[in-house]
Amino acid sequence: MEFSVKSGSPEKQRTACVVVGVFEPRRLSPSAQRLDELSDGFISSLIRRGDLEGKAGQTLLLHNIKNTLCDRILLVGCGKERELSFTQYRRIISEAVKTLNETGSMEAVFYLTELPIKNCNINQRIRHSIEAAQHVLYRFDQLKSQKDTTRRPLRKIVLTVPNRRDLTEGENAIREGLAIAEGSRLSKDLGNMPGNICTPTYLAERATNLGRVYNNLEIEILEEQEMEELGMGALLSVSRGSRQPAKLIIMKYAGHDSETPPVVLVGKGVTFDSGGISLKPGAAMDEMKYDMCGAAGVMGTINAIAEMELPLNVIGVIPATENLPDGLATKPGDIVTSMSGQTIEVLNTDAEGRLILCDALTYCSRFEPEVVIDIATLTGACVIALGKHATGMFSNHSPLAHELSNAGKQSGDRVWEMPLWDEYQEQLKSNFADMANVGGREAGSITAACFLSKFTQKFHWAHLDIAGSAWNTGSKKGATGRPVSLLCQYLIQRAESN
Ligand code: BES
Ligand code: MN
Ligand code: ZN
Repeated sequence: MEFSVKSGSPEKQRTACVVVGVFEPRRLSPSAQRLDELSDGFISSLIRRGDLEGKAGQTLLLHNIKNTLCDRILLVGCGKERELSFTQYRRIISEAVKTLNETGSMEAVFYLTELPIKNCNINQRIRHSIEAAQHVLYRFDQLKSQKDTTRRPLRKIVLTVPNRRDLTEGENAIREGLAIAEGSRLSKDLGNMPGNICTPTYLAERATNLGRVYNNLEIEILEEQEMEELGMGALLSVSRGSRQPAKLIIMKYAGHDSETPPVVLVGKGVTFDSGGISLKPGAAMDEMKYDMCGAAGVMGTINAIAEMELPLNVIGVIPATENLPDGLATKPGDIVTSMSGQTIEVLNTDAEGRLILCDALTYCSRFEPEVVIDIATLTGACVIALGKHATGMFSNHSPLAHELSNAGKQSGDRVWEMPLWDEYQEQLKSNFADMANVGGREAGSITAACFLSKFTQKFHWAHLDIAGSAWNTGSKKGATGRPVSLLCQYLIQRAESN
């Protein structure tokens, strides 16, 4: 899809379609109003007749409207005028894009950017439009031999800005929006790729390829032998049950001088989680191919920031492995020694994410990080607590929690903070080792975060549990690309405050 910005009035656009909003109940947006006046009240007469109420997401396509230069006008319902939020706006854009793509307009000029969205500047309007458009048109059909094709697909979207002097800002927003959408696409593609293709080795190869595209991005892959030498007994205890070798993928993006401490992003990369010896039940087990969405989020974010050339240093660290039950697999009751020296009693081999993350987190110290953020599909309990709308957030540093929460609001890719109180640490006590890897049924996502907190005391850290937000289940099954927009927003803010 091609995007551009433009200013000018709707009747003067020589294009396949002009897209304007209608609020509920039957109230025209400024551009709709203008087209209505020029067409002697044609639009308002249709609306009075009941063809469009203005409910969010409704659409009505009109042809050959008097005194305009466009072939069509698409009216899009925007809901109640004063309730317009980011989420609502993205839904409106999605519906418009979907309709255009299916009705033969190959190009369209959008006046939806003029809508009164709460706390939303031009940059954000444009970024949200691009992200929503790319998201709704996304298909994962690489592995289908027959692909659905659209006969006259939408190819070009022109987003309008109020004045000519807004064009530079608009163009900059397009650059950012495209980079973020590209990062989300990579993240979705990796997530949707099945476990027999997307192995730890495959993730390492994809990272290596990214390193070839951007010359300030350096990739390093650690093999099991090197992890052994580093003493990563927890990470290796997970990969023992699999024939695919584990990889520790390090991605170093240098956008600032080497003195600047980096932001480190750690992504859980379990390319398939069967549960190991504590085998999962069969129902929906296929979805455990998504257990590398943390890794995919890190790779997508690094792709996006390298594309935007953000003036920051960012390092991605991805422990990648399968979790399978083989003869050599770790058994419940086994005790392993982590890189930090702390010992762990593995009471449940299905709590493997924290085992690979704890060694990756210990490894982060060598970078003397500004902050460390880990991203993981860590617990089913998080899905029970927050569902799919919010990512669970935990942090040992409240300014960081605040910044992430703010970035969530700005990007629409929201997080919700959960407690990391000392009282919960009790649940991880073990009779035989320094800690157990599970903390019982209660507060499962919190005890998982408590476990990680024992490995992050040396730095400012946040943990994002994306078990609910990273993919959709049911008929819309597929990766969501989250939290790439959240992380990009956070990093853009950081770069601005540098
Ligand atoms: N990858 C799963 C978490 C998960 C489960 C994500 C369902 C999304 C949907 C993780 O490795 C896991 O199995 N966690 C266990 C932890 C338990 C054994 C303490 C869980 O959540 O059941
Ligand atoms: Mn598991
Ligand atoms: Zn898992």
